[in-house]
Amino acid sequence: MTAAQQPIGVFDSGVGGLSVLQALRAELPHERFVYLADSGNAPYGERGDAFVQARTHAITGYLLQQHHIKALVVACNTATAAAIHEVRERHPQLPLVGVEPALKPAVAASKTGCIGVIGTRGTLTSAKFARLQASLGGQARFIVQPCDGLAHAIERSTAEPLPAMPTATETGAICARYTGLMGKFGTKDGEIDTLVLGCTHYVFVQDELRGLLGPDIQLIATGEPVARQTRRLLQTAGTLAPEAGAPAPAITLFTTGALAPLQNAATRWLQLPAQSCATVDLPTNRP
Ligand code: DGL
Repeated sequence: MTAAQQPIGVFDSGVGGLSVLQALRAELPHERFVYLADSGNAPYGERGDAFVQARTHAITGYLLQQHHIKALVVACNTATAAAIHEVRERHPQLPLVGVEPALKPAVAASKTGCIGVIGTRGTLTSAKFARLQASLGGQARFIVQPCDGLAHAIERSTAEPLPAMPTATETGAICARYTGLMGKFGTKDGEIDTLVLGCTHYVFVQDELRGLLGPDIQLIATGEPVARQTRRLLQTAGTLAPEAGAPAPAITLFTTGALAPLQNAATRWLQLPAQSCATVDLPTNRP
């Protein structure tokens, strides 16, 4: 197999990174993808850096050794903040893309200059996020709200094939509680007119957020810019998959947790067949 035919690895603490995979698939329809949901260890957001770093290294090693990936997309803000610098150091040749809350696009989009940012505690208290925010100092006012429990509730919402009412209500209630703490949303001076989804899971509660905040509030996610950056890196490396006459590319998904939730999420959100999902046992490597 040539480098161009090798798959792109994508991982997240769970099903949230499927929102990034969705954008990758649209941008790079001729590529093969291997997705790893670390749902057996989710959520990462409240677990601390050492844990997230250890999981990131175990997953990166697995994707390189077992699937011979040609590039890695860390489809998790929390893992990007805690561990991407270490992955870059350990694998300097590997084209690597991470995700971070899209503050710059939000500054460009906001008219009131008042921007809400939601994400995990791990992401929003990281040094990486502090640097990002400082780099935009003065250009906007950021109202930053960690949403403990929201990613976990979104993971739980995939337990059934169709959204079960109690879990749908649970994610809606959590969204309402946290956005309620942030201040007034609206398009008048001093109101928050733009909300950055700083966790890849939150794309899957967009409808609930829109319902709560109204149609005038812009929600900013990161899937599309990440997909474009992945294309650029592959182009530079000369490993983009050939387009002409290519067979339908395979997308394979693995989970370290129970199989059914990944199957439910993959069929519900990405219209992928349940048979493309499998489980994998992936213990954390001891140093
Ligand atoms: N989806 C992840 C992120 O973008 C992590 C959510 C979690 O596991 O807490 O940060």
